[in-house]
Amino acid sequence: MDAQLAQLFDFLRFPSISTDPSCRDDVSACGQWLYEKFLSIGLNAQVHGTPGHPVIFARSRPVPNRATVLIYGHYDVQPADPLDLWTSPPFEPRLADGIITARGAADNKGQIMAHILGVEALLAAGGDLPVNVLFVVEGEEEIGSPNLAAFLTEHAAELKCDVVIISDSTMIGPGVPTLTYGLRGIGCIEVRVTGPAIDLHSGIYGGAVQNPITALARLLSTLHDSAGRIAVPGFCDAVEPMLDWERNAWASLPLNEARLLEITGAPALVGEPGYRPLERMWARPTMEINGIGGGYQGEGTKTVIPHSAFAKLTFRLVPRQTAAEAIAQVVEHLRKNVPRGVQVEIIEGHRGDPYITDPYSGFGKAAQRALTGTFQRPVAMIREGGSIPIVQSFKDILGVDTLLLGLALPDCRAHSPNENFPVANFEAGIHLNQALLKEIGKMQ
Ligand code: BES
Ligand code: MN
Repeated sequence: MDAQLAQLFDFLRFPSISTDPSCRDDVSACGQWLYEKFLSIGLNAQVHGTPGHPVIFARSRPVPNRATVLIYGHYDVQPADPLDLWTSPPFEPRLADGIITARGAADNKGQIMAHILGVEALLAAGGDLPVNVLFVVEGEEEIGSPNLAAFLTEHAAELKCDVVIISDSTMIGPGVPTLTYGLRGIGCIEVRVTGPAIDLHSGIYGGAVQNPITALARLLSTLHDSAGRIAVPGFCDAVEPMLDWERNAWASLPLNEARLLEITGAPALVGEPGYRPLERMWARPTMEINGIGGGYQGEGTKTVIPHSAFAKLTFRLVPRQTAAEAIAQVVEHLRKNVPRGVQVEIIEGHRGDPYITDPYSGFGKAAQRALTGTFQRPVAMIREGGSIPIVQSFKDILGVDTLLLGLALPDCRAHSPNENFPVANFEAGIHLNQALLKEIGKMQ
């Protein structure tokens, strides 16, 4: 374990922040490190350049009449700011009380490394794998995988496989084996509101022109009704209701309301009426304002009517919504509700469709056997609120389903300061990978 941890720590030291142009060389150095790791365990590896950050591809020597699994992960991370809230520097991994703290520890370096080390252990033990293994580890997941679908299309023949395996989500609690059979989709837009040509004296001109921040606040307030339901016409029409077994299964999970209050630190749980928190998080769409700005942000008072204001929005989507339709509906709704006296520009960002699969398929059952074998407990069947847009693209482009076996904990602080991953989960992940490949190998 010490040697395995040392390798994870080397991987974590790269500030591979895909969205930050100043980290470009760090991202590619991280990809190169991974490429060398794949070579060192005896896989055939390649670095595939893209218009953005490289995709690292590796494969075991193909053996005919054996199932082929594609293990996907990402080596890029989210920005580390606000830096002053970290208890240790984000790219100097720290181990204390069995917990690894670093940016990317959970999302996704610790989880993908567990799979790589699992394959390494199998190769070291017998020199042979129970299945053919392909690895696709990209450097652009956190910016919406803009080049990965093209990579899948271009290399579809080489990437031909029977199933995809991903550990890039959470397990429901410590030691609770978790199979995730659904992910939410995502749509992103930025709304820019422009009023007067310049910032105006709010005493001289106040009362005669529209204030862009007021206009933006009014516009954003039309997205929900007063009870908290999404009010964009048609937005929820395609939403498929939850099944009874899901509601029942989720009601008894250890991630209950008390635990959610504790993890989030929020004073109360709120949301769409008629649904429990996990139902709202996993099986209902949402509309979130992620950032807002405009006007004077400094100390004290400055009496201006600002020239402009902006907000960044993302919405989460569930089966059978599509990102394309949802974005079109939101854009149309916003355009119809623009207050008088301002202009609105809407900029579309990246998107991804929601995903759902049958946890009781042949591969789903193999995953369940590997999970119970590794953790010695019954498997929790969940959906997740987060998005991994490429999962639906694996289905659309390669025609295969994905097994999502999350290893991070709900309080892993992904995307936040002090992101963490327990050594126990890392170690369990290494065993889970081996059990899963063996179970899939036995299926034929
Ligand atoms: N690993 C997460 C997604 C995730 C987290 C899925 C927890 C399930 C449970 C992934 O790296 C991520 O953060 N994705 C982004 C979407 C992307 C398009 C920027 C997200 O969900 O916000
Ligand atoms: Mn991730």
